[in-house]
Amino acid sequence: MPISQPPNPLGLKPPKLAKHLIPNHVAVVMDGNGRWAKSKGLPRTAGHEAGETSLAEMVYGSLQLGVKYLSAYAFSTENWKRSPEEVKFLMNFNKDVLRRRRDEFMDLGVRVRWAGQAKKLWKSVIEELETAEKLTAKNSKLTLTMCVNYGGRAELVDAAKLIAHEVKAKKLDPDRITERTIASRLYEPNMPDVDLFIRSSGEQRTSNFLLWQSAYAELVFLDEYWPDCDRQTLWKAIEIYANRDRRFGNAK
Ligand code: IPE
Ligand code: IPE
Ligand code: MG
Repeated sequence: MPISQPPNPLGLKPPKLAKHLIPNHVAVVMDGNGRWAKSKGLPRTAGHEAGETSLAEMVYGSLQLGVKYLSAYAFSTENWKRSPEEVKFLMNFNKDVLRRRRDEFMDLGVRVRWAGQAKKLWKSVIEELETAEKLTAKNSKLTLTMCVNYGGRAELVDAAKLIAHEVKAKKLDPDRITERTIASRLYEPNMPDVDLFIRSSGEQRTSNFLLWQSAYAELVFLDEYWPDCDRQTLWKAIEIYANRDRRFGNAK
């Protein structure tokens, strides 16, 4: 089946950037749904609902510009602290979004992946994530990693457990542990490092998102609440990124 072009009713054109200035991997903390809803006199859940379009817009904007990896923070290991009603809503909402969007993402050549912990996560959510993963496994235009029940520390703890078991079973020599050993035991071992880390809603923290992978990411904090973000917001963040001087510890 031929790959469809992302919908673009306004005929928006991405910024013209040299290829090396386009981030390979963009990570986004989709924050500010509750405040967006509150500012409109709506329940918090209406903010989450409105955020679905923003996520789709990020996918379209990434495809148009040629970003290859997009990772979206949808539910953190800390979000279980929220009210049972909101947690329940978010679980169902994640399922619904995956079900509603998977065929569209399939047509666009998007490969969907899940990063997160199975512990505590609803079985039905895991099933929906796995269905989307299977359906889109052969796509290669863009990898969209849905980070659901994801925590950067939990991910490192899980990697440490795997390593400890391998050492115990004498399959791994502790003296030969390298950064690669750890990276290859993360939830998505083939995920490249994050180049651009975006957070909406004005908060300036990472909230436990992709800790290892973002070690050298450029951080861009946007004032817009997540439901007000669209592909142009993404492109604005990418233009800020393109003007950064990435040194990786080197000197000129
Ligand atoms: C982000 O929006 C969505 C999730 C964390 C699931 P919030 O729900 O955190 O919205 P604010 O930060 O309360 O405005
Ligand atoms: C981070 O946002 C998690 C997601 C966007 C899924 P939060 O709103 O949960 O983070 P804090 O509480 O402001 O750190
Ligand atoms: Mg928040």
